[in-house]
Amino acid sequence: MKHTRPNGIEILSEDELKLMRSAGLVVAHALQEMTQAAAAGMTTSDVDAIAVEVLARFGATSSFLGYEPAPMLPPYPAVTCTSVNDELIHGIPTQRALKDGDLLSIDFGACIGGYHGDAARSVGIGELRPEVAVLNQVTYESLWAGISAARLGRTIGDISYAIQRFITRAGKYGIVRGYTGHGIGHNMHQPPDIPNYGKPKKGPRIERGMCLAIEPMVTLGTHNTGVLDDDWTVVTADGSIGAHWENTITVTKHGLWVLTEIDGGEETLNKLGIPFGPLAD
Ligand code: MF3
Ligand code: CO
Repeated sequence: MKHTRPNGIEILSEDELKLMRSAGLVVAHALQEMTQAAAAGMTTSDVDAIAVEVLARFGATSSFLGYEPAPMLPPYPAVTCTSVNDELIHGIPTQRALKDGDLLSIDFGACIGGYHGDAARSVGIGELRPEVAVLNQVTYESLWAGISAARLGRTIGDISYAIQRFITRAGKYGIVRGYTGHGIGHNMHQPPDIPNYGKPKKGPRIERGMCLAIEPMVTLGTHNTGVLDDDWTVVTADGSIGAHWENTITVTKHGLWVLTEIDGGEETLNKLGIPFGPLAD
């Protein structure tokens, strides 16, 4: 049963949310395997191959492979986006080897029974320069600041504002404006847009049954971006390093459920003092 509001926001039933969780778990496991395996000397294609294997093992399909955002653009050619250093998002896996000190962002989406999960983690290869390690930590914490702001009755603007405020208070960083988080469900990308900056109380109200992909993209320099000749890879305009973290969440009557974390977000939400609200199996 498909239930979509006039503004295009999908409202899913509890049974549909359980399928969203199945897709999210595939994403969580694949990202865990990839982040644990990523090491100097490995190529980003090697990282992508791990995700191909995980999809097969779980009987899931890729949300990314063949994805066509616009008619004139080439379909996306891999199952992950692997973005290194000044590459922010949408990096196409290549035969180039990772090296010590690289910041690798892995973005991955999986589909089960017609429902999508989407998440990203940034991970250091070997030792990161201290300022890059701090950038990654700030971006990670800004994701959780955004997740923590998602409550029934609050708005998308409350999430955006929480992310922006966290990053702004942490220091001088670029908050990417040209790309946003998004609603997710029967499609990987659907309304509403979830910017990483904004004003409290603005935007659509958060309701039960909505699934949201929250994804701050943060740089050590400018918030401006460019796209490489491959038509996909988004880089920082000034060559500064960028980090990217993403989770797919939903808000149940019990609390928050982070669909793309293996534990549903329980441990981190408990630490943050936010109610954890999974649906029973
Ligand atoms: N997962 C990305 C996002 O967070 C989108 C990937 S684009 C694709 O929105 F073409 F690779 F699918
Ligand atoms: Co996304």
